[in-house]
Amino acid sequence: MIAIRRLRPDDDRTQFRSGNVELDRFFARYAGQNQFRHHIGSTYVAVEEAILGFATMAASEIFAGALPPAVRKQLPAYALPVLRLARLAVDERARGKGIAQLLLQAVFAQAHTMAAEIGCIGVVVDAKPEAVGFYLKLGFESLGVAEGELGDRPQPSPMFLKLGKIPREPR
Ligand SMILES: CC(C)(COP(=O)(O)OP(=O)(O)OC[C@H]1O[C@@H](n2cnc3c(N)ncnc32)[C@H](O)[C@@H]1OP(=O)(O)O)[C@@H](O)C(=O)NCCC(=O)NCCS
Repeated sequence: MIAIRRLRPDDDRTQFRSGNVELDRFFARYAGQNQFRHHIGSTYVAVEEAILGFATMAASEIFAGALPPAVRKQLPAYALPVLRLARLAVDERARGKGIAQLLLQAVFAQAHTMAAEIGCIGVVVDAKPEAVGFYLKLGFESLGVAEGELGDRPQPSPMFLKLGKIPREPR
């Protein structure tokens, strides 16, 4: 059975292979120190003997002007608290089994906790072009591309899921 839990200092992070060397290097080298030493982000892992996936999140903010108009008009015009999904990856050998969805349930539960405790209007992610479809399926909406960012090289696409659309974990 796959367990979703917070990363532990003694977890072996060296065998994880997402097919993206930057994500694997982040996980192996930085996820631990970011969580345990610097307290700048927190990582959930999906574990079944080995680690099959991870999701890293951090408290963040979004300027009201960057939000979709329907959301923006209900809110004050300053920086607003959000939960940022900073990294998400599933091992290539474990794709298509719902592991990313399980990890996101944990992230979503954290967004509701943050909202209740200190404030949070939703979840933001800078989606890789090939993952935009994945986030759209979950109800995220694209926030558009800032001027000057369009070019030949595919850019990450900022996306937002407002709290009211985030399912609560089944109790
Ligand atoms: C994107 C990624 C995290 C998905 O992991 P996964 O565990 O295979 O995804 P799941 O099995 O939980 O899929 C959940 C749903 O999303 C769909 N899905 C998965 N990847 C998708 C994609 N790239 N585009 C569109 N839909 C996708 C699945 O078909 C499934 O749909 P269903 O519920 O209708 O069956 C994984 O492919 C990955 O690690 N990719 C490389 C790193 C990356 O792109 N990370 C995101 C960075 S922003």
